[in-house]
Amino acid sequence: MSATLFERLGGEAGITQLASDLLDTHLKNPVIARRYVDSDIPKAKQGAAEFFTTGTGGPNVYTGKDMVGTHRGMNISNDEFVAVLDDVLIALDKNGVGQREKEEVLFVFFSMKNEVVGQ
Ligand code: HEM
Repeated sequence: MSATLFERLGGEAGITQLASDLLDTHLKNPVIARRYVDSDIPKAKQGAAEFFTTGTGGPNVYTGKDMVGTHRGMNISNDEFVAVLDDVLIALDKNGVGQREKEEVLFVFFSMKNEVVGQ
């Protein structure tokens, strides 16, 4: 049997690093940085890591809201969504993630677009 995406991304350590790099990249991205001015960044990193862990076939550790509930009232635009995808690719490249895994991660993110944009 082939390894889960969670395993291929380096398990807990790999996902924790990716989530941390992703949030750090958001903070430097002018399109979306303002969204995080009131955030508790370590907590947001942890929430992202737990969501990615569960969503990539790792242990079921995510206890946050679903994606509609998390982003309700934010009225996120298409441009902001693309900015997050840009940052996802930057974080994946920074960590040397392979082409196949990058494609899978991008697909997982893109497939959640309608749960995030315009809520
Ligand atoms: C598929 C794309 C996205 C996914 C998978 C995603 C996932 C998440 C997750 C897992 C959380 C943390 C929830 C928790 O810990 O309870 C979160 C919070 C958040 N997301 Fe997203 N998100 C996406 C797109 C976006 C976009 C496009 C924006 C707009 C810039 C955005 C803005 C935020 C903000 C502001 C928070 C709250 C951070 C905090 O203060 O804790 N998200 N998102």
